[in-house]
Amino acid sequence: MKLSTSTVVSVVLPALVSAHDIHHTRYHARQAAVAAVSSAAGAPTVAASGSLTSAALSAPPTASFSLMSSNPNAVPLSSIASGVPTQATVPLDTTYQAGATPTGVSSAPGLPNPSSLVISSYPPLDKVPPTDSPEVQQWIQEVANSGVTIPNITATVAGGCPANPEAVSDSSRCWWTCGGCTRNTDIVSCPDKLTWGLTYDDGPSPYTPTLLNYLDEQSLKSTFFVVGSRALSYPATLQAEYMGGHQIAVHTWSHPDMTTLSNEEIIAELGWTKKIIKDVTGVTPNMMRPPYGDIDDRVRAICTAMGLTPVIWTRISATSTFDTGDYDIAGGITSVTQVLANWENILGNVSVIDTGFIVLEHDLFQQSVDVATGYILPDALAHKFTIEPVVNCVNKPLSDAYIETNDNSTDPPLASGGSATLSSGAPGSAEATSKAGSNSSSSATAMVSTPKGLGLVALTTAIVSLLGGTAATLL
Ligand SMILES: *[C@@H]1O[C@H](CO)[C@@H](O)[C@H](O)[C@H]1NC(C)=O
Ligand SMILES: *[C@@H]1O[C@H](CO)[C@@H](O)[C@H](O)[C@H]1NC(C)=O
Ligand SMILES: *[C@@H]1O[C@H](CO)[C@@H](O)[C@H](O)[C@H]1NC(C)=O
Ligand SMILES: *[C@@H]1O[C@H](CO)[C@@H](O)[C@H](O)[C@H]1NC(C)=O
Ligand SMILES: [Zn+2]
Repeated sequence: MKLSTSTVVSVVLPALVSAHDIHHTRYHARQAAVAAVSSAAGAPTVAASGSLTSAALSAPPTASFSLMSSNPNAVPLSSIASGVPTQATVPLDTTYQAGATPTGVSSAPGLPNPSSLVISSYPPLDKVPPTDSPEVQQWIQEVANSGVTIPNITATVAGGCPANPEAVSDSSRCWWTCGGCTRNTDIVSCPDKLTWGLTYDDGPSPYTPTLLNYLDEQSLKSTFFVVGSRALSYPATLQAEYMGGHQIAVHTWSHPDMTTLSNEEIIAELGWTKKIIKDVTGVTPNMMRPPYGDIDDRVRAICTAMGLTPVIWTRISATSTFDTGDYDIAGGITSVTQVLANWENILGNVSVIDTGFIVLEHDLFQQSVDVATGYILPDALAHKFTIEPVVNCVNKPLSDAYIETNDNSTDPPLASGGSATLSSGAPGSAEATSKAGSNSSSSATAMVSTPKGLGLVALTTAIVSLLGGTAATLL
């Protein structure tokens, strides 16, 4: 099926379950997939484990959507699915010389030479980095010296809300994952109505150049929340994003649920991602997105101490979260039809809120890039939104997205203000605290990251009980 611009598309198909509710299934599928390829330069693949889950959830809802516009060259909907053949990837249309500087980032340092990266000087791909390296020990010390108080909040255990009843009921920790709590230090929308702070997560990937070409054609700029392991694998693509005037921001080294980690591990995840981005682009981002939105006041405080402002996606209620679900097409957990129905719901919500918005989308897989370039972005353009990177949507210049080029007089760096930003309104932070630099064996036991023993059946049970539950969301 080929669609042309200005066609109104209306499709009704049975769809799989809402992706919002099954995050932890895709999480485990993702970890398995990444583990399987971690020796292959981090090329992403998809584990085909979604069918079990969708079968276990009865009575699939019907998804329908309509679009004002789509791309005349869009990949047909029938080819945006799990298991479709891999398309030939397009090469980057420009590569850059060492020393080049981007337009729009005033007084940017020259671009480093990516061929000078020494892979062995970085941690293994897609694993929480060790905390005993000299680099991490230095970052731990810097956090300890920052003056930011890290609240003594216990780490959560893997398994989301059902596995952590105490944390769920402790509203003082402001855990976004279970209940959507945010602090005013989080960026969760753009202030101006009908303004979209465009973001793509989890890249760079082999499909990112296709997205970059479309963004260039339409003169659009985005924020890219970069996974450090992917940056090490695809440095030239990261340079193309940066030199193309897009905003680069941090999305951790190995994509864990941050609240499950110890303070030291969180520092290692953020520190290495800041470092690889600086080593590839010459600049260090000052915004971050927690994978799955998994953030609480402990993670927030460490972000503040490391000069990183958290950016989550807009959530107006437990059932209205601006997640397209695009990530889950590749794994067969959702369908492109459901993703476009989610997009239509987001548009409905956008029309009734007083602010602009931020949506969760990804550039890791062919399918999510295809749905973005073929359908979502053309439709958004037809809606005449103001579409820009998050830093611009919060009314700052692009140069304020990086520590080295930030105008410190108009936009003071985060950590310099000490702990003031977090202690107000955060009762948990007033309790006994520990500096992140201290060695805490109790947090080390709680941090066991991926429970390999947690089988799909147990997981599915947790999902079903969640679906039948109340306001809990598992993203
Ligand atoms: C907002 O989104 C939810 C689902 O995410 C949907 O049910 C609801 O109809 C939307 N609201 C509007 C006004 O479109
Ligand atoms: C702002 O401060 C940082 C250090 O925190 C420095 O690297 C940067 O150059 C400063 N920005 C400008 C525009 O001087
Ligand atoms: C942090 O809290 C735990 C209990 O949750 C307690 O055992 C520990 O002593 C506290 N640490 C500090 C440094 O206060
Ligand atoms: C943590 O403990 C290890 C060994 O137990 C030690 O080498 C390291 O210096 C300690 N780190 C800090 C920040 O105290
Ligand atoms: Zn992510």
